[in-house]
Amino acid sequence: MVPSFDKTRHPSVQVASALNAASQFHVDLNERYGTHNYKPLPVVIAGAGGCWVTDVEGRRYLDMLSAYSALNFGHNHPALVAAARAQLDRVAVTSRAFFNDQLGPFFKDLAEACGLDRVLPMNTGAEAVETAIKTARKWAYQVKGVASNEARIIAFAGNFHGRTTTIISFSSDPLATTNFGPFTPGFDIVPFGDLPAVERAITPNTAAVLVEPIQGEAGVVVPPAEFLPGLRRMCTERNVLLICDEIQTGLGRTGRMFACEHEGVRPDMMTLGKALGGGLIPVSAVVGRDAAMSVFKPGEHGSTFGGNPLAAAVGRKAIELLRTTDLVERAAAQGEYFRRQLESLRSPIVQEVRGRGLLLGVLIKPEAGPARPFCEALLRDGLLCKDTQKQVIRFAPPLIIERTEIDWALERIAVVLTKV
Ligand SMILES: Cc1ncc(COP(=O)(O)O)c(C=O)c1O
Repeated sequence: MVPSFDKTRHPSVQVASALNAASQFHVDLNERYGTHNYKPLPVVIAGAGGCWVTDVEGRRYLDMLSAYSALNFGHNHPALVAAARAQLDRVAVTSRAFFNDQLGPFFKDLAEACGLDRVLPMNTGAEAVETAIKTARKWAYQVKGVASNEARIIAFAGNFHGRTTTIISFSSDPLATTNFGPFTPGFDIVPFGDLPAVERAITPNTAAVLVEPIQGEAGVVVPPAEFLPGLRRMCTERNVLLICDEIQTGLGRTGRMFACEHEGVRPDMMTLGKALGGGLIPVSAVVGRDAAMSVFKPGEHGSTFGGNPLAAAVGRKAIELLRTTDLVERAAAQGEYFRRQLESLRSPIVQEVRGRGLLLGVLIKPEAGPARPFCEALLRDGLLCKDTQKQVIRFAPPLIIERTEIDWALERIAVVLTKV
């Protein structure tokens, strides 16, 4: 069941640019006691349902960021909330010291949904990526026969795979790396979309190629059509694991269950997170082929919370929703519509509209200034979205979004993108 859209409750007045006392109180607390590792847009959210959030002043906003794709099902989807509530009343956390009655069914459903063999559950996206890196290295030593400590992994310029020390070691973004060294060795960075560069970078020590099917944080960058199939072919020929990071693009976001399906590619391992937690809790996983996943023996890797029954129950329900409803097809159809309408605005300040399904980026021409003021203007008009990489406005609404809601957003976007 998709929560219904209540037209009567749309915000009809512009949001004042100055914060009122209720909002300012929370902003001040954040400023004073929080660490300044984020620069949030000035809205203090206090409630939500479906595609809409309400701030502490009672104003409503259409959420077109979806917590960076964690909210594919929207806020507080009734079926997911019910699954979580039911599980909370039974048992929430057991640790993996014991079996629990949710995890096995979750493993089965997730492995089948991915067309892969085995699941290793974690909590956050970064943990899933760390786990995939460890798996690939172990596979390189135990199966491929790479000499000890010599395994290398190829990643791509512009990548975003998380914030741990090892993951930032192969980031090409100075903001992510400056003053965080020393870094973990063993990674080779090549240009995104450049197959000959990958070919040149592969050596007998290469364990894996780690790739985002669409680079979300880089500004919604879609690679050339032949890129993923080319990587698949090369990895198979050279005995290298292909790892697709579908943490942001997976679970329906791009109009397919997984973004790599657009090119008919099946990786050896996939990392999932964000929407796997149904927009309620952190749930992540590595899903992979038997040959890779069975390198682990008991005690070699784990997580206290990974695979807890609450996470497994919610993750299972999330997969069930994607498999039994038309959410994925909706993402394709609504995304296509949204994209066409954005293009037809013919805004003089827009260089390009790019992306797939409901993961869209609007590239603002440099002469029009950065994207952030446009996001702030849209916020004042009741629409939440976020700039990424300075010039791009990312639109990634929940997959449950209705056509009327997209039209409502387009009215506001049209004003903001054409009045400059
Ligand atoms: C492709 C990709 N991988 C990994 C991550 C890290 O996920 P988390 O923030 O849950 O650690 C993100 C988060 O934005 C992502 O987009």
